[in-house]
Amino acid sequence: MAKKIAVACDHAALDMKAEVLKYLSDNGFEYYDFGTYTKDSCNYPDYAEKVCTAVYNKEYDLGILICGTGIGMSMAANKCKGIRAALCSDTFSAKFTRLHNDANVLCMGARTLGCGLALEIVDVFVNTGFEGGRHQTRVDMITALENKLAK
Ligand code: RB5
Repeated sequence: MAKKIAVACDHAALDMKAEVLKYLSDNGFEYYDFGTYTKDSCNYPDYAEKVCTAVYNKEYDLGILICGTGIGMSMAANKCKGIRAALCSDTFSAKFTRLHNDANVLCMGARTLGCGLALEIVDVFVNTGFEGGRHQTRVDMITALENKLAK
């Protein structure tokens, strides 16, 4: 079954998000665009929350968040329960964060990456699976850390 992808951006990344949505559509992925929908200034944590909530609730398999640098989105996303967000600017990281970290949200910077590279990163991220095994132990440790520090 095709993976379902939740996507959002802030005002800095509207054009790149459009390219990402086109890639997902052209490649048979189900997706939902959680906004923003205009270039009016907005606050990236609002959009990180929408996508991360949808991923946490298992309504979507993976999330993609784009802002100017990708940093704000990744900081906000990694505050959300159950989210392992990876800020990627190369395909090697995109591949290994799925294989080893079971990253469930990809963050990218629209002001730091060209669209061609961004789409290659998306392609690798959405088409690579988690390896499990010894990496599951480490991912479980991240979850334990999240629960410990939340107390
Ligand atoms: C918006 O100007 C910018 O701060 C935002 O897109 C992002 O880069 C934050 O991390």
